[in-house]
Amino acid sequence: MYRACAFEKEPGSCNLFCLRYIEDYIFNSVASPDQIGAIVIEAIQCDGGDVVPADGFLEGLEALCRKNDILFIIDEVKIGFGRTGKMFGFENWKLTPDAVVMGKPLGSGQPISAVVGRKELLNAGIGLHLFTTAGNPVACAAGLETIRIVRDENLTENAKAMGDYLKTRFNELKKDYPVIGDVRGKGLIMGLELIEDPEKKTPASDMAAMVVYRCYELGLLLFDSGINSNVIELTPPLIITKEQCDQAIEIITQAIDDVLSGRMTMAKLSDFAGWAT
Ligand SMILES: Cc1ncc(COP(=O)(O)O)c(C=O)c1O
Repeated sequence: MYRACAFEKEPGSCNLFCLRYIEDYIFNSVASPDQIGAIVIEAIQCDGGDVVPADGFLEGLEALCRKNDILFIIDEVKIGFGRTGKMFGFENWKLTPDAVVMGKPLGSGQPISAVVGRKELLNAGIGLHLFTTAGNPVACAAGLETIRIVRDENLTENAKAMGDYLKTRFNELKKDYPVIGDVRGKGLIMGLELIEDPEKKTPASDMAAMVVYRCYELGLLLFDSGINSNVIELTPPLIITKEQCDQAIEIITQAIDDVLSGRMTMAKLSDFAGWAT
């Protein structure tokens, strides 16, 4: 059953089988390295289930790219600008990407995105394809101010401290709630994997939908992520306080209790497209 590893391996015990799979199988049977311009990857896989890569994976992938003359590009659209406890998620490892893709948090709600990369890469072609809203002064001002605030108000440190606190609290909760299969994340990108039973660990997708909806009713906005939609994703604002974390944990606990006791049912979700599985 796919959880955090497509090969169902336990982290630390597989000698990074996935990298050997890319080199031995993908490069030989799917696409040869000379057909691959770039590998683009999130430093932490968010919508895929808040999966933090095993130690050595990203470094190994970068080495594979270097060896085969493939560009190594990091997508920081979701976790960039402080969320993981570092300014960029990839800085949690020793990596030197050829380019970094940035979006959402850069503008704090204003529409702005950016690609930062090596000079020769960004100068490789002329600017044939530009965008209607590119260079929007309001969005650019918001971007600059966002960077200033993240730096000046030490929000990366707050993200790390609050993320560590939430992780400890959720791991305590996991002991009392066998439906929590895994607590994942780094800093303030966090996932609670919900499972049907502790043995088979089958994804509890309906339960995740119900918990998210019940949390919404109780005043907490969350999202379900993962290829089985069974990971409750938390991406709170970087300014969150310990008291607000406690409040969120209280609501999530209440929501899980309400689902387990039958006070919250799938029938409540039937009117929402995409909610009922
Ligand atoms: C990690 C990541 N990369 C890229 C995108 C796409 O960004 P955009 O909608 O700005 O193209 C998203 C989500 O929308 C995302 O979460």
